[in-house]
Amino acid sequence: MAQNFNFPIDVRDGRYCETIDSVDLNWVRKRIEYILIPEDVIKKRIRFLAKQITDDYKDSDGLVIVTVLQGAQKFAAELAYLIDNEYVQFDSVRLSSYEGDQSTGETTVSMLFKNDVTGKDVLVVEDIVDTGRQMEGFLGSVRADLEPRSLRLVTLMDKPSRREAELTIDYCGFTIPNEFVVGYGLDFNEKYRNLPFVAVLKPVEYLGGSPKEK
Ligand code: IMP
Ligand code: MG
Repeated sequence: MAQNFNFPIDVRDGRYCETIDSVDLNWVRKRIEYILIPEDVIKKRIRFLAKQITDDYKDSDGLVIVTVLQGAQKFAAELAYLIDNEYVQFDSVRLSSYEGDQSTGETTVSMLFKNDVTGKDVLVVEDIVDTGRQMEGFLGSVRADLEPRSLRLVTLMDKPSRREAELTIDYCGFTIPNEFVVGYGLDFNEKYRNLPFVAVLKPVEYLGGSPKEK
C-alpha cells in the first residue's frame, strides 16, 4: 500500500513494524522487542514536516526553533536543517517533571533561552507527547512570560491514549500505540537514545525500574 507522507502517520496498526532479527548488534536483539518505526520511514516523514513548516513560516522574519533536550535532539536537528528560512535561530531547553522515579507534576525549566524570543515565532520541537502535562506547563509559561508572536509545537510522536492535558499539537510525525518506545533520541533511563529507529523494549527491561527523567 502506498503511503502518503504528507499527513501524520498512524502506526497504531503496526503497519511499519519490523522484527529485530536483521539487526547485527547482539545487545539490540537482546533488549528490543520489535521496531515500531524504521529509519527510512522517519526520515521521509521529517522531510514532509519540514516542507509544511517552511511553507507555514514563509513570511516569518524571526523563527526560533526550540529543541527540548535530550530526547528531541536528533529529530530537531534533522528537521531544522531542512527548514528553508533565512531568519531561523536555534535554542534549547531541558525540562524535567521527575524527581527520582516520581513525577512531581511540575515542570522545571533548567536551561534559559539564549535568544530573546519576545515578539518572535517560536516553534518548540519535542520527541513525544504522552500525558501532555509537561508541554502544557512549558508552553503555558513561555506564552505568559516571554510573549512570543506565535507559539507552535511539533512532535515526532504522539501517544494520544494517555493524554491528560489539553494540548494543541500543530505538527505531528506519528501517532503511536500505548507502548514505551526508545531510539531516535528517546531513552529508557538514559539508554537506547542511539538506536537509529523507534523501537519497543522487551518487557523484561521494565522489571525493577521506571523512567527516571522525562
Ligand atoms: P508527558 O508530560 O507525559 O507528555 O511526558 C512527556 C515526556 O515523557 C516526553 O517528552 C518524553 O521525554 C517522556 N516520554 C513519554 N513517553 C515516552 C516513551 O514512550 N519513551 C521515552 N520517553 C517517553
Ligand atoms: Mg521530552
